[in-house]
Amino acid sequence: MRLLVTGGAGYIGSHTCVELQKAGHDIVIYDNLYNAKSAAVERISKITGKEVPFIKGDILDEKALDEVFCRYHIDAVIHFAGLKAVGESVEKPLLYYENNVSGTISLCKAMARAGCKKLIFSSSATVYGMHNEPPFTEDMPLSTINPYGATKLMIEGILTDLAAADKDWSVVLLRYFNPIGAHESGLLGEDPQGIPNNLLPYVKRVAVGKLPCVNIFGDDYPTPDGTGVRDYIHVVDLAKGLLAALKALETDGTKIYNLGTGNGYSVKEVVAAFSRACGHEIPWRIAPRRGGDAPFSFADASRAKKELGWTAQYDLDRMCADAWRFISRNPDGIQ
Ligand code: NAD
Ligand code: UFG
Repeated sequence: MRLLVTGGAGYIGSHTCVELQKAGHDIVIYDNLYNAKSAAVERISKITGKEVPFIKGDILDEKALDEVFCRYHIDAVIHFAGLKAVGESVEKPLLYYENNVSGTISLCKAMARAGCKKLIFSSSATVYGMHNEPPFTEDMPLSTINPYGATKLMIEGILTDLAAADKDWSVVLLRYFNPIGAHESGLLGEDPQGIPNNLLPYVKRVAVGKLPCVNIFGDDYPTPDGTGVRDYIHVVDLAKGLLAALKALETDGTKIYNLGTGNGYSVKEVVAAFSRACGHEIPWRIAPRRGGDAPFSFADASRAKKELGWTAQYDLDRMCADAWRFISRNPDGIQ
């Protein structure tokens, strides 16, 4: 297939492009480089030994999208492009609704004009909200508590309505749990700007001495060691899950899959695993709880296993070892 990958220069997108090319698919990356560098595209090419067509463009720019669909025959779109910082979404809700929701609508309109009606959307475990008991199954009631999550929920609804209205559409909604880790080559990995919000990027900065200490947000949750539990998944496993999900585009309608391991690890377990990976202690201290954090989040990943034949393979030590290789070789990120 030839796949248009929006946001393909970003963290999950770049790893997915490697797996798509390795599996023999042709790709075209479309990214405005808001949160990525063009060097990431060069690194995909370095890993796979294949050319990577790249167009710098915005999903809000329908004219530019029309040109892409005119220039390339695209069989399906894998849609990663979006903004993802929860705190920033609370401060700048209009930016998030416009970029994520309006951007997805622009993309779908351009796809419809081009007669390309197969779409895989990057949703998030955040749509399970605060009221469900994990493991989360795809048919649980959904809710969110911040504008970022609301954009994911709205887009899921829009795409479901679209596929119901026009039987030519095939939509796959993938709910990612917590992707961490990096490509084993040490060439690709997560490269956030500024002080990181998420746990692993923060731990990595402490490990390379750029931040003094990990703040563990609360140790009084009803979890085995009192710290928050999440379903961390190796980004390459996630990328393989996306590859497996192409199969689900063969039939019309909307399909929904969790992409997680089904296992939960606590913040303390993650810090300990990263210490093993980097070979030295990571300093940490207990800080107050962060507002809006659930004690537990982990997937029921059985639907993806049954219907897509996909399960995650890598354990937490491997995730941390690969993340450490990337950050120690690229302390200033992908340049
Ligand atoms: P990322 O920021 O690394 O990648 C997103 C990419 O989209 C970036 O390269 C950015 O430049 C691009 N982009 C943003 N707005 C754009 C626009 N208007 N037009 C064109 N390109 C645009 O993020 P990621 O971690 O790779 O996440 C990819 C997707 O998966 C996002 O939609 C995110 O919400 C979703 N997701 C991520 C996580 C996670 O923890 N990383 C979890 C669940 C879901
Ligand atoms: N945590 C700390 N210290 C930090 C950062 C995080 O203790 O400096 C803790 C959090 O309290 C939580 C765990 O580490 O218990 C994981 O936090 P992250 O911020 O890494 O991840 P979240 O599960 O909170 O959320 C992320 C994305 C969401 C997405 C979700 C599931 O930010 O948008 O994963 O995909 F919905």
